[in-house]
Amino acid sequence: MEQRIIKADIIPEEDRTEAGLRPTSLAEYIGQEKAKKNLKVFIEAAKKRKESLDHVLLYGPPGLGKTTLAGIVAQEMGVNLKITSGPAIEKPGELAAILNNLSLNDVLFIDEIHRLNKQVEEVLYPAMEDFAIDIMIGKGQGARSIRLDLPRFTLIGATTRAGMLSAPLRDRFGVVDRLEFYNVSELMLILLRSAKVLGVALDEEGALEIAKRSRGTPRIANRLLKRVRDFAQVEHQGGIDYNVAKEALNKLDVDSAGLDQTDRHILDTIIYNFNGGPVGLDTLSAAIGEDPGTLEEVYEPYLIKNGFINRTPRGRVVTELCYRHFGLEHMLENGE
Ligand SMILES: Nc1ncnc2c1ncn2[C@@H]1O[C@H](COP(=O)(O)OP(=O)(O)OP(=O)(O)O)[C@@H](O)[C@H]1O
Ligand SMILES: [Mg+2]
Repeated sequence: MEQRIIKADIIPEEDRTEAGLRPTSLAEYIGQEKAKKNLKVFIEAAKKRKESLDHVLLYGPPGLGKTTLAGIVAQEMGVNLKITSGPAIEKPGELAAILNNLSLNDVLFIDEIHRLNKQVEEVLYPAMEDFAIDIMIGKGQGARSIRLDLPRFTLIGATTRAGMLSAPLRDRFGVVDRLEFYNVSELMLILLRSAKVLGVALDEEGALEIAKRSRGTPRIANRLLKRVRDFAQVEHQGGIDYNVAKEALNKLDVDSAGLDQTDRHILDTIIYNFNGGPVGLDTLSAAIGEDPGTLEEVYEPYLIKNGFINRTPRGRVVTELCYRHFGLEHMLENGE
């Protein structure tokens, strides 16, 4: 199946190019003022006390800058960054080895931290709290546990699914920051910066047109910019203005509200199968074949934030704006 261009998740071939576009300091990191202000204070305080920063949990939909922010924190603290992820650590011993190799005040970044298995997670509790791990030596009757001290370190956990984190794990983070969708002017700044890095001429109107269709997500903005650039280089003189951007985005079949196939499928299902709602989360997720947690934490936020869906006590309903967006005004007049 062809990759959908407006998917917020990273697509494999992007891995390399994405790294090049990552801002490396808080000053360059656009938007997320609340999280940034928070972190700035904690980083300064930790540096003054010459201590490690408290453990940080970053959560929010894909592509909003969690990994980027973790890198920036390490950079600003002047320490090493070790990167791993929940599904990559299969056994408690593997995590113990990673922890044991950290240097004083290092940042350990665990992406998709909600996917750590239970036994591995249990190694993290004493590590986060007491900077120590308990290791079992020997087998059977003679087995005993010894405590191994670790250097102080900062754990930065990232997740798109905060609801799936166990309470004991969540409670061990001193700083919890939720990343928000970006507004159009923030996305424009990100696009103008990325264009500079990529060496492509992009004017404000061009940036605005791309920003509007980027679903509040820097990863999508940068991806659209790269595709529009290809188009601009092949069919125009290489620069991107309003007309070039609009023509390219239309050719790429990116909806004016940045909706993708899954979004449309969700909205269509509510409209046609459930008469516009209300429909409960479980019923809806069964109808679209997606798990309720993913629907609620990954797909819904953008639709709710942009007024396509309302959450009511009786379930999800599509809005008037949604009908209008799809040119279905006649369904409204029929009393829905
Ligand atoms: N605040 C920002 N300012 C500038 N660029 C940003 C910002 N946030 C993210 N980006 C850009 O968006 C891209 C995606 O960000 P990042 O990989 O950090 O997202 P993520 O939240 O970790 O996503 P995932 O949930 O898929 O891991 C980065 O390559 C970076 O260039
Ligand atoms: Mg990431």
